[in-house]
Amino acid sequence: MKKSIKNALVITAALGLTAQALAANKIEIFSWWAGDEGPALAALIKLYEQKYPTVKVDNATVTGGAGTNAKAVLKTRMLGGDPPDSFQAHAGQELTGTWVVADRMEDLSSLYKSEGWASKFPKAVIDLISYKGGIYSVPVDVHRSNVMWYVPANLKKWGVSVPKTWAEMLTTCNTLKAKGVAAPLVMGENWTQQMVWESIATAMLGPQGWNNLWNGKLKFTDPKVVDTFTMYGKVLDCANKDASGLSWQQATDRVLSGQSAFNIMGDWAAGYMTTTKKLKPGTGFAWSPSPGTSGTFIMLADSFGLPKGAKDRTEVLNWLKVLGSKEGQDAFNPLKGSIAARTDSNLSKYGAYSRSAAKDWKSNTIVGSMVHGAAAPESFTSGFGSINDAFVSSHDAKAAAQASQDLATQARIGM
Ligand code: GAL
Repeated sequence: MKKSIKNALVITAALGLTAQALAANKIEIFSWWAGDEGPALAALIKLYEQKYPTVKVDNATVTGGAGTNAKAVLKTRMLGGDPPDSFQAHAGQELTGTWVVADRMEDLSSLYKSEGWASKFPKAVIDLISYKGGIYSVPVDVHRSNVMWYVPANLKKWGVSVPKTWAEMLTTCNTLKAKGVAAPLVMGENWTQQMVWESIATAMLGPQGWNNLWNGKLKFTDPKVVDTFTMYGKVLDCANKDASGLSWQQATDRVLSGQSAFNIMGDWAAGYMTTTKKLKPGTGFAWSPSPGTSGTFIMLADSFGLPKGAKDRTEVLNWLKVLGSKEGQDAFNPLKGSIAARTDSNLSKYGAYSRSAAKDWKSNTIVGSMVHGAAAPESFTSGFGSINDAFVSSHDAKAAAQASQDLATQARIGM
């Protein structure tokens, strides 16, 4: 063979290999952290790109709080045999009761072993992502669901203080209405309304009662649970009538603008108010546990896993390593409003809200959020949205309790 032809072949082969290597160096990360929710994820991806500069990251987001839209797209892709390389899912039955039982996720136990993570994450969090001896995702954060947000200067102007119980909330609500605040409590779309019920139920049933709903020991038809819906109905009367058309950010904005006094929202709201709105915790906005839940931390955790059949498996394992590292968690969480899922994070990097959440996380009674996948099976959580809608228009507490019990039975809660 002539030397020039030989050289050309060698060059072509080398180019082919390079092209192949380049083509293989990519990863798709799928989540609902778009727009205002994006900065924390962007910081994590930046860290990943610094460590793996040849990998092209496709930051694939589907907008919509709590993943209502993203989860539907994910389902289509998973069932269609086109899983994203790595996707966001709440720790708990949202992942284990769906894609893990269906054998669609890889067991990450060996990654936990090689990274020494068993001692770095709280056992309770690892339990949430475990199934039959395997560990199926890596948690990037811990969020709190039962937080009430307000602007101190506005409460001062109206001459009201932060209600400590739901009964006090109703009284404060009347005071504020008399002062011209039409909707003292602002709510957003369906899932944010469910968070208000979640807070009311935890307050009125206590953490043990809340847990008993999910282990089947307490029936939804119990008069104590019916009472939680009755209270929820009264609280709805204190809220805006256009809730279903508001995103959680738009609901937060109404507190900031002084149109409403309070909003109950997970602490991603702290991320939004500090990272996007550049407000100072303590003065620009302030917080307290939602009424009646002081001492209880309703938790949820976002996690990412490795679906079977992922096209870029090696890149996913590296992505998970960055996400589960101390450095990764401390890049992500200070911007997100959450705290690290790891126990060894450097709190000096966090703002005042997150430091207070970290303290509560250590000292409070911890329970799981139903709305965000930690406490109940996905089939219950997705069905509860319709019960909420029906209740918002009917205010029929007994009917809501009965429908919830029927749903719990269908979802085999406690069986
Ligand atoms: C939750 C999620 C949070 C935040 C929130 C609003 O389900 O865990 O990280 O994104 O939804 O979209």
